Amino acid sequence: MKIVTIVGARPQFIKEAVVGEELRKAGFKHILIHTGQHYDYNMSDVFFRSLEIKDPDYNLGVGSGTHAVQTGLTMIRLEEVIIKEKPDIVLVYGDTNATVAGALVSAKLKIPVAHVEAGMRQEPRDMPEEINRVLTDRMSDFLLCPSRTAVENLQKEGVEKGIWFTGDVMYDLYLKMEEYFDYSTVERLSLKENEYVVVTIHRDFNTDSKERLETILKQLSLVAKEKRAVFPIHPRTRKRIQEFHLDNYLRHFSVVNPLDYPEMMGLVKLSWKVVTDSGGLQKESYFAGKQAVVVMPDTSWIELIKRGINSLSEPGEIYEKLFSVGDNTFEKDLYGSGNAGALIAKTLGGSE
Ligand code: UD1
Repeated sequence: MKIVTIVGARPQFIKEAVVGEELRKAGFKHILIHTGQHYDYNMSDVFFRSLEIKDPDYNLGVGSGTHAVQTGLTMIRLEEVIIKEKPDIVLVYGDTNATVAGALVSAKLKIPVAHVEAGMRQEPRDMPEEINRVLTDRMSDFLLCPSRTAVENLQKEGVEKGIWFTGDVMYDLYLKMEEYFDYSTVERLSLKENEYVVVTIHRDFNTDSKERLETILKQLSLVAKEKRAVFPIHPRTRKRIQEFHLDNYLRHFSVVNPLDYPEMMGLVKLSWKVVTDSGGLQKESYFAGKQAVVVMPDTSWIELIKRGINSLSEPGEIYEKLFSVGDNTFEKDLYGSGNAGALIAKTLGGSE
C-alpha cells in the first residue's frame, strides 16, 4: 500500500518523526511531501536533522503568505503530485494550512484521508487552526484521536464512522527521545534547575495586536524579576515586536532562536514552569512533569486544565497564574500508552 504524508510546519515535522517510521515498519511505501510553509533553518531543517526524519520526496516551496495564498498554492502544487503518485491513503497532521489543503485536494480526488490529531476543538471558532481542524475532520475517513476528549468531540458532532483512539504521537516521541534530550542551552545560559521559566508565544491572536503583545511582555517582565525567563522566539513574534517597537522589553529575557526538539525538551525538563500558547508545548511540559500557563482563551488539551495541572490565562494574568498553578500529577494513559504511531499504522492497514 502506498501512503503520502504531508507536512509543512514545525509541529508536523515532530509528529512525522514517529509516524513516518512506523508506517515504513508496517510495510507501507511512504512518500513524504513538505509544503514549504516553514522554511527557516531553525523552523524546518533542524527537525529533519535532529529527529532523523527522511528527506522529503517533494518540496512544494509554498513559503509565507496570507492564508488563501498558502492554502491555494499548496492545493495547486499538491494536486499534481497526488495525481502522479496515486497513493492509497493521504495522511495529514494537526491544524495548519498544509493540513486543510492536503485533505481537500485528496478528498476531491477520492483518495481516503487520514487525520492524525482529529477531534481537537477549541474556542474561538474563527481561529485559523480551528477552522482547519473542523474542515479537515469533515473530509477525513480515518479520524485518529490523541485523547478521549477528541473522541467525544467527534461523537457530539454526530460523526458515526471512522473514529479511533490511538493516543498522542507526541507522547511516543517524548518517551523515545528522553535519553537524547540536549541540555546545551541550559549550560550555555548558565541556568539553574527549577529556577527559570520557558516562554513561547506565537499565535496570531497574541502577536498581531500591539496592546495584547505588550501586555504579555509586561507580565513576563514582572516574572523575570523573580525567575529567569528563557524565550525561544518564533519568527512571527520577532517580526511583530520590531514592528510595534516593543524591543525594549526583550532585555529582561534570555532570548534565543527557535530550538530543535532535543534542546527544547532539555530546556523544559530542567525548568520551573512554562508559559506558552503552543498546542504541543503545553502537553510536552506535562510529560516532563512541569506545569504550564497557557496564554489562550481555550485549549483542546482541556484534560490538563480540568485536572488543575495547566492553567488558562488572559495576557494580564500571567504573573498571578504562574505563581499559583497547582500540582502536576502525571496520569498514566491520559494520552495513550506511547504506542500511538504503531496503532496508527495498524489502523491504516499496515501489515505488522
Ligand atoms: C503555523 C501553524 C500553527 C502551528 C505553527 C507552529 C497555520 C495556520 N498555523 O503557525 O498551527 O502551531 O505553525 O510553528 O498553518 N516565518 C518565518 N520563517 C519560517 C516560518 C514562518 O519567518 O520558517 C514567519 C513568516 O513571516 C510568516 C509568519 O512567520 O508569515 C507566520 O508563519 P505561518 O507559516 O503563517 O504560521 P505560524 O505562525 O508559524
